[in-house]
Amino acid sequence: MDAPSASISHMTDTLRIIATLPADQAQTLPGRFYTDPDYFQYEVETFLSREWHCLGRVDEIPNPGDYFTARLFAEALLVVRGDDGQVRVLSNVCRHRGMLLAEGSGSTRRFVCSYHAWSYDRSGQLSAAPRMQEKGVGAKTCRLPEFRCEVWNGFIYANLDDGAIPLAPRLEALNQVLAPYRTQGMRYVQSFEEEWQTNWKCLVENFMESYHLSVVHPKTLHPYTPTGLSRKALSGEAFTSYCANYPDTAATRGLGADTLRVEERRRSTLFSVFPTQIASQAATLLVSFGIQPLAVDRIRVRWTLSTYGDELTQDELDARIALWQEVNLEDRIKLEKMQQALTSRHATSGPLAPEDYEGTIADFHRYLARQLPAMPKIAAVG
Ligand code: FES
Ligand SMILES: [Fe+2]
Repeated sequence: MDAPSASISHMTDTLRIIATLPADQAQTLPGRFYTDPDYFQYEVETFLSREWHCLGRVDEIPNPGDYFTARLFAEALLVVRGDDGQVRVLSNVCRHRGMLLAEGSGSTRRFVCSYHAWSYDRSGQLSAAPRMQEKGVGAKTCRLPEFRCEVWNGFIYANLDDGAIPLAPRLEALNQVLAPYRTQGMRYVQSFEEEWQTNWKCLVENFMESYHLSVVHPKTLHPYTPTGLSRKALSGEAFTSYCANYPDTAATRGLGADTLRVEERRRSTLFSVFPTQIASQAATLLVSFGIQPLAVDRIRVRWTLSTYGDELTQDELDARIALWQEVNLEDRIKLEKMQQALTSRHATSGPLAPEDYEGTIADFHRYLARQLPAMPKIAAVG
């Protein structure tokens, strides 16, 4: 990539400074980090297109031929379970003239291109190309390119960079936090897709801080997870987390796994696998969002809701889905308004709230700073 412009260099200097502040003096990023299209492009080129992004859950596609589609930057993706039981992330672009092969989700024996009817099997191998025999196009010579894919705790992650280092070893500490909840075995219930007019970092920061809970969600979340009871939890190179504790007055929300301690049943653990996954793990409910950044001020959000075993009835699950939809709308309204305001030259850096409430945002900023290319060496003088 070209050398960054003076304005991007100034911003990366700012990020470096903010990321090294002591925890009790942590600061927000200025508005430009969320609104400058050139900075977004810089983020895509320097790390977003080389990182692991959560696309969904493995049990969304339990049988061979089950698939759903996604998008990461320039790449249209097809997430499919093959006849061998493997989950693969394939290019969703026909090898003939580039038509999108599949849309939405479903189950199929073959992916047949809607343009000239080339067809591909469930591993991405071309199986037929009408009238192309004498051109030498056939199954042996043509297949859909495959992207790196990793499954961790039942989540499917993709990476566009063939040389990316594996994700799981970077999440070992988080694994220990989630182990008692049996995250891996949580049962998929439903998925949802939405487009929000906000910068991708705004949603990560919003989801991962508890400071707004009692203000933005007075009726929906405050009775269960008030700001005042939240506590920052473990963080690492590739993740951060906090505990949203329930007050004594709140009824229990199901038992979940028998490996859980009493206090683990009485809180939701919110975590982010950087850069774009945010999730809430409670005893009987797991809600995970994969953020697909589309532009500096636009994201596609794909979220899944999973539950533990059969403890919750369908009515209870429907009520939880309705609650999450309400909460998401409350957040979305705030973030879409903030996106308008962040273009102001007066949207400068300000103080973050104490660690238990916004310390996770400082963790995120430190992660962002670690993604910056190494500073060019300055030659010694004299
Ligand atoms: S573009 Fe798919 S068959 Fe022509
Ligand atoms: Fe919120």
